[in-house]
Amino acid sequence: MSQKRELYPSLHNPLFIKPTRQLPGEIAIIGAGTIGPDIGYYLKSALPDTRLLLVDVLEEPLKNAERRIADYAKKAVDRRKMKEDQARAVIDNITYTMDYDEVKNCDLVIEAATERIPLKQSIFRRVEDIVREDTIITSNTSSIPADRLFSDMKKPERTTITHFFAPAWRSLPVEVITWEGGSQEVVDYLLWFFAYTGKAPIVTDNVICFMLDRIFDNWCNEAAYLLDCASASQIDAVVEEFVFAGPFFVLNMARGNPIIIETNTLQMEEGPHYRPAPIFGSVETWLTHRPGTRLEVPEDTKNTIRDRMLGILFSQSFDIIDRGIGTREDLNFGCQIALGFRKGPFDIMQDLGEAEVSRIMGRFHEEKRGFPQAREPLSVYQDFKRHVLVDEMDGVKLITIRRPQAMNAISDEINDEILAVLKEHGDNPSVKGFVITGYGLSAFSAGADIGRFPEMLGDSSASVQYSKDCAKVQLFMDEMDKPVVAAVNGLALGGGLEIAIRCHSIVATKNATFQFPEITLGILPGIGGCIVPYRKWPQGAEVFHEMICLARRITTREAVDMGMVTAITDDYSEMIREAVKEVENIQGKIKRVPDGSVDIPEITIPAQPMAAGLALSREAISIAVKTIKDGAAADNVADALEIGYRGFGEIACTGAAKEGISAFLEKRRPEYKA
Ligand code: COA
Repeated sequence: MSQKRELYPSLHNPLFIKPTRQLPGEIAIIGAGTIGPDIGYYLKSALPDTRLLLVDVLEEPLKNAERRIADYAKKAVDRRKMKEDQARAVIDNITYTMDYDEVKNCDLVIEAATERIPLKQSIFRRVEDIVREDTIITSNTSSIPADRLFSDMKKPERTTITHFFAPAWRSLPVEVITWEGGSQEVVDYLLWFFAYTGKAPIVTDNVICFMLDRIFDNWCNEAAYLLDCASASQIDAVVEEFVFAGPFFVLNMARGNPIIIETNTLQMEEGPHYRPAPIFGSVETWLTHRPGTRLEVPEDTKNTIRDRMLGILFSQSFDIIDRGIGTREDLNFGCQIALGFRKGPFDIMQDLGEAEVSRIMGRFHEEKRGFPQAREPLSVYQDFKRHVLVDEMDGVKLITIRRPQAMNAISDEINDEILAVLKEHGDNPSVKGFVITGYGLSAFSAGADIGRFPEMLGDSSASVQYSKDCAKVQLFMDEMDKPVVAAVNGLALGGGLEIAIRCHSIVATKNATFQFPEITLGILPGIGGCIVPYRKWPQGAEVFHEMICLARRITTREAVDMGMVTAITDDYSEMIREAVKEVENIQGKIKRVPDGSVDIPEITIPAQPMAAGLALSREAISIAVKTIKDGAAADNVADALEIGYRGFGEIACTGAAKEGISAFLEKRRPEYKA
């Protein structure tokens, strides 16, 4: 069962190739407990026109499910995440039924019933007799391998496991299991389908508990074994260094004790060391604190907890990679976005250093015999890109920024990784060029990472330095001979747009949006955003004035009309093909950002400048205006860029910047005084 299958036989970004199978018109979820309705709500939010069937053998859970979905939609409207008519479309066209025959026209059936093999098998037999030949049938089991559920079916090739994480309507990852009886076409389709509907699917091999629950279940189990030397609250407090909430707090929230007994009992097939801690059978609720509560823990106890919890985390991580259960990229990513780790396990190892990791694993081996240890030198587990996926199509490297939890906002690490990929393949004659795109349909990138700003606000030289550091990717692209094409799949905002405009060409989907929202934050685009557009597309100067000073959004159509975007496409996969072609088209014809001063039209600012109902800061606008004008007047690009960095340094010291950034991070509207 632990055979090494190629987890991603073709491409890592599931949206690159559009499958021939259509989007499902009808989807059924069998089981209306907790996760079933949550999966249903996600699906209806993403595909409101789809008919959804929620099937259960009892009426009560169906009624609860209906209330739950209505409640989610109402909350989304209250929080302004959805408009009234969208919420109505989500609630409409859902059938809550006890009649299995209703699922006969479904294109996709997801089972989310109790974790009992005979029950699940009987559901699948029943479904298989009713649905069409090509209907995809999946299970949301968190632990049972696919062969145990589907091997006896008439058409096992259309089945697999699609494992969601709580809360399924919001948590991004879905594990899609590849197994020997299933078909690659079904796996590829499901990956595409989940990414298309806003999830971040990852592929795992067909082993007990798949990938992420091997981490979670054993993390909780080890915590329970530690109760002989510390309290639940102490254990939670110590591991909050690594997770947003400790295992006992999470178990209370999820009523998860029986699940650990079940899943760790299954894992005992791999050895007795996975035995569930007996205490899980006798405790319902753990006595622990809310995350973030300060608690003193004696040094010795703290060290024991820390070592043992890291020991189990690292042991499971090594095992997952060594057995090919999942990839390093997905494990690191999934632990953060599904399990609430502050950093991925491989990041924690990197921070601790090789000697400390070896010490922890040595102690773990002494105290917990039988658990897997690293089979490779530690450096092997570190050698991967954390935040970008790298694929190849027709000799072109495709770089996908994968940070969907923050709409692909550009962190320092993302900048470093993009730069590293460009450098790695810069001299490789078999690589024709590069495409940079964003993961998912909603954003190319929502800008520079705003969370990074507070540390430099009020410090002009730190802010200038930040701009210069971020600009390394742009400056490198300015000098490259191999083409880099931006494929803009959704929002290209702020620092994201600053990457796109420095690529040598831009292609975009028809629904993309281009905007410099910085002024709404009391800052300005400081990585060349006030400089480069005027030099590359001087005919668009008036629009750029409005974009920079008033945060005006433009559509792909307008961007094409201004000459900023070269090709406009209907969908993501077409956009990628077009971008790959564009790399070919501009071989040897890369246009550099022109030197010399540029004539720009007068910048007129309304008496009360506003953006989307927000009164903007006049102080910030005046610095932006000055930066644009001085930048345009400069004789060469290098001087102009320098003016742009200094403009950012100046604006970062204003009250407007402080208010704008704080308001974004506190999730409120800013109020500018000047
Ligand atoms: N930096 C850091 N995090 C960002 C981000 C950025 N530039 N843009 C979005 N995010 C994060 C949000 O904080 C949120 O995280 P959370 O779920 O942990 O709270 C997540 O991405 C989703 O964003 P949210 O605002 O909840 O989604 P939305 O659909 O309501 O709004 C945007 C989307 C893009 C309009 C909104 O996020 C936004 O205005 N972002 C900032 C854009 C910007 O000013 N960029 C320029 C910076 S140079």
